[in-house]
Amino acid sequence: MSTTDPAEEPGYTNSYLGDQHAGQLARMRTLERAFDPLSQTVFGQLPLPDKLTLLDLGAGAGSFAGWLSKRHPDATVIATDIDTRFLNDIPGIQVVTHNAATDDFPAAYFDLVHVRALLCHLPEREDILTRATTWVRPGGWLVIEDLSLRPSLRTANPLFRKIAQAGFTLLEQSIGSDMLWADTLPDRLGERGLCNIGYRTLEGRIGDNSPADAFWAATTAQAGPTLLKLGLLTQDDLDAMARLRASATFTEAALTFISAWGQVPERD
Ligand SMILES: C[S@@+](CC[C@H](N)C(=O)[O-])C[C@H]1O[C@@H](n2cnc3c(N)ncnc32)[C@H](O)[C@@H]1O
Repeated sequence: MSTTDPAEEPGYTNSYLGDQHAGQLARMRTLERAFDPLSQTVFGQLPLPDKLTLLDLGAGAGSFAGWLSKRHPDATVIATDIDTRFLNDIPGIQVVTHNAATDDFPAAYFDLVHVRALLCHLPEREDILTRATTWVRPGGWLVIEDLSLRPSLRTANPLFRKIAQAGFTLLEQSIGSDMLWADTLPDRLGERGLCNIGYRTLEGRIGDNSPADAFWAATTAQAGPTLLKLGLLTQDDLDAMARLRASATFTEAALTFISAWGQVPERD
């Protein structure tokens, strides 16, 4: 029997990125504004029937599930999350409380399963990807989208590198995130036997007032107290980074939004 209070267990939900934080909905909106254009482009090029059953796993604040239901008015759009508080008022979607790490769906139930900005944070990511593949019917699609922090770790700017490394370490140690996993997505889909695999990427920069810049700033601000508490950064580091980001001459690649898709082979 576990003696740990579930509210104290490590992981995404109880971390500084969890939905209980006051600024969380606004932070999720910045992620949506940065990521939705890539996701919409990818879905626009997939050959999908009008009438279909779609799953958005870990749907967050639901902009993409809502977009799917508008784009496919005859579809059934199921949006799940371990914490569904931001999904309740979106027309056209069915909301289900579901823990991707432990809960399942019937085999071959969906025409398409979409998972965005979730698996990088869950230590069970490989198992979830394997199970999510089984939820797709033969001929259906799996679309996995995630973020890589590789560009920020490669920066030549020493201050930005220090901030990026601290954020990377915090995500890894306090949540179990793997912020380079997304770089391997096409291979991961291939290992699951998917066919017609493709991928597309979008560079996210900071210092340019772009949607990615707003997402990076909101996430770094939310992480600030934990970064200080764990001694990974000082307040001077965070203040200096804020000045650097605001300076007219600074802009750098910070992250890559990666979208990868593949089709479950038809049965013979
Ligand atoms: C970074 S947000 C991404 C939200 C959305 N997919 C998007 O891209 O806009 C991650 C979401 O996953 C949810 N989540 C975290 N752990 C989960 C789990 N084990 N099962 C299902 N959802 C989970 C969080 O509550 C949060 O809404």
